[in-house]
Amino acid sequence: MAISRRDFLNTTVVAMGAMGLRHPLWALANPNSAGPAPDQLLLGVDYYPDQTPEALWEEDARMMADFGFTNVRIAEFAWGLMEPSEGKFDFVWLRRSVEILHKHNIAVILGTPSAAPPPWLSAKYPDIVEVNPQGQPLHPGGRRFTCPTNKTYRRLSLAVASEMAHTFAETPGVIGWQIDNEFTLSSNPRCYCNFCRAGFQDWLRSRYGSLENLNQTWGTVFWSQTYADFSQIPVPLPSGGDPNPGLALDYNRYQSYANASFLEEQLVMLRKTCPNHFVTTNNVGPPVDYIDLRELYEKLDFVAFDNYPGFFEMLVYEQAKGGTVPASAIGTAVAMGHDFGRSLHGKPFMIMEEQSGKAGQRTFSPQPNKGQLRLWTYQAVAHGAMGVNYFRWDTATFGAEEYWHGILNHDRSRSPGFDEIKQTVKELKGLGVEVLRSSYVAEAALVFDYDSDWAFQIQPGHTALNYVSQATSWYGALSPGRSGIDVIVPGSDLSAYKIVVDPAPYVVSESQAARIRDFVQKGGTFVSGFRLGVKTESNQIVKTPLPGLLRDVMGVTVEDYAPIYSGKPGVKFSGIVAGPDGECGIWADILQPSGADVLGTYATGAHAGKPAITMNSFGKGKAVYVGADLDAASLARVLRSLAASAGIIQPIDTPPGVELTVRKAGGKPWIFLLNHTAAAQTVNLPKPCTDVLTGEAHTGSIELSAYGVRVLRAG
Ligand code: GAL
Repeated sequence: MAISRRDFLNTTVVAMGAMGLRHPLWALANPNSAGPAPDQLLLGVDYYPDQTPEALWEEDARMMADFGFTNVRIAEFAWGLMEPSEGKFDFVWLRRSVEILHKHNIAVILGTPSAAPPPWLSAKYPDIVEVNPQGQPLHPGGRRFTCPTNKTYRRLSLAVASEMAHTFAETPGVIGWQIDNEFTLSSNPRCYCNFCRAGFQDWLRSRYGSLENLNQTWGTVFWSQTYADFSQIPVPLPSGGDPNPGLALDYNRYQSYANASFLEEQLVMLRKTCPNHFVTTNNVGPPVDYIDLRELYEKLDFVAFDNYPGFFEMLVYEQAKGGTVPASAIGTAVAMGHDFGRSLHGKPFMIMEEQSGKAGQRTFSPQPNKGQLRLWTYQAVAHGAMGVNYFRWDTATFGAEEYWHGILNHDRSRSPGFDEIKQTVKELKGLGVEVLRSSYVAEAALVFDYDSDWAFQIQPGHTALNYVSQATSWYGALSPGRSGIDVIVPGSDLSAYKIVVDPAPYVVSESQAARIRDFVQKGGTFVSGFRLGVKTESNQIVKTPLPGLLRDVMGVTVEDYAPIYSGKPGVKFSGIVAGPDGECGIWADILQPSGADVLGTYATGAHAGKPAITMNSFGKGKAVYVGADLDAASLARVLRSLAASAGIIQPIDTPPGVELTVRKAGGKPWIFLLNHTAAAQTVNLPKPCTDVLTGEAHTGSIELSAYGVRVLRAG
């Protein structure tokens, strides 16, 4: 049986992944190309020939080749040029562009254009627009204003993608596809229109089978909401009171399904039409959480993410009302995104868009400091990326993204980042194939659960309780300088980890509870934050004492739970987490041990003297309940002490702001040291090491310049 290159890519990557090896995408996706040698990273750029005078295409391709780029991603917003009127397609211009790029050995990833429908489409089919949570329709004129359920929109999106696929299936140089662009990432991530309402009702019909089951599972007898027909079921639009929590959670799940199934229509077509090409899409991980990314990426060949560290700077500035952000905090947020992207498939991921300069639309982040563009690229590779595409080649002089700066300035001169990116591309190509085939070493995992996240959005319990910020604080507390965290979704295999931390496991299903029980029984350490096991999968509260299904594993009962609005209780620590007194922020679960040891106690406030943190021995492992919302310093000490006692050994101690990751090939580690601070740093080396980039041997200690990077091998 003939095996397509795409299938080969999939099976080989899985098989090699299982052996702890990584397979370079390039070699498999383009084995016969006259392009760059196989066995190298995909180091490319996002390019817009549709926005560039044709007279410049040749020069662009020549400059990109000279730059060292292996590939571009193009066309993901060019629907209007590809289908100027309904059913009339024009790919001649795009073919010319692909040919020019190919002539210069630049491979092409094509984007299907469904995120930006042209005016003829919205004029002829005005009901394709999304409706916002207030029930108001969006308007054409931007992008991503369309309903994911709408059948006309789906039909037309598939039609243009399918024409594109047939046109480019055999075109030399084309290696793969990006479907659409950043599903749900817009000012209005979810749609509440009548098509979605009907789609939701159908989805519920197949999920619940009968109305009796649905009514029972949601508890619709409350406020006289018992449904006598599926057509009576509303979507959660404003209604003078909160919606049923079961309905609200299911609606978020439906919206995720609607987007994932929209993608799947194009995926099925691309698999059939272009069996030689890989297929992926681009999105971003936490803190963005409108779609279940596990569902979105499940059937794709690999995960591709976009990465704009400068955006975090703007976001944090806004949230902190002008306070400054420590550079290392941005590095940590980016690291979490990379770890999430890699962990979704448990294999190498790609950065489809990487910041290359000042970035933003109406407002924008500053030019990254000297060294940061290089640092962020290495950071992606250090976390397991198999490729990095920079956004974008030139900087637009028109359109909504005139201030999203690229590698060329508005006047096509070299941007401030030009030389640094070029040098980085050259260095990475020189690293050799072994590092690309090395696997990321992670002995710890952090659980990120969309169900718990969405259930907290529906009923946070405290005005400041936010799942994503709990998850990012826990990641930040565990991570600095700490090698190897996978960010996993519930249902993942836990057997490879020494410690699994679950920041706020509000919704716990029976199968999740069974996995956790099994993990601890076999010797793992499970650490839960507050609100463990409060909710069932249907967003009802469990009928047993808390923490519900995991009471035996944790060896505690939650005696009471308390949102805290004033007077933060103190917390005293003992045993393996002993240290200075800490503070409990917005939430306190008050614990009553039934076998567990007490590691922390509320020191002040209404619950003074009651347990705040417990540790239970269960089977061969340990189950720790951190019931208090700890201050950052205490949380970091607690999580790191628990990781150490679970057997996680730090190969090298790093100063604050210096990140360390390890990738291994053939049993030998590659150690990445990444300095996210603006000051030079010294790192003590327990063993002599060689810097792979300079070839120099180092003993005793090593210097990292401001935003500097070192890639080390022992010996
Ligand atoms: C990404 C998006 C790109 C472009 C870029 C800069 O989020 O995928 O299309 O918009 O940001 O805005």
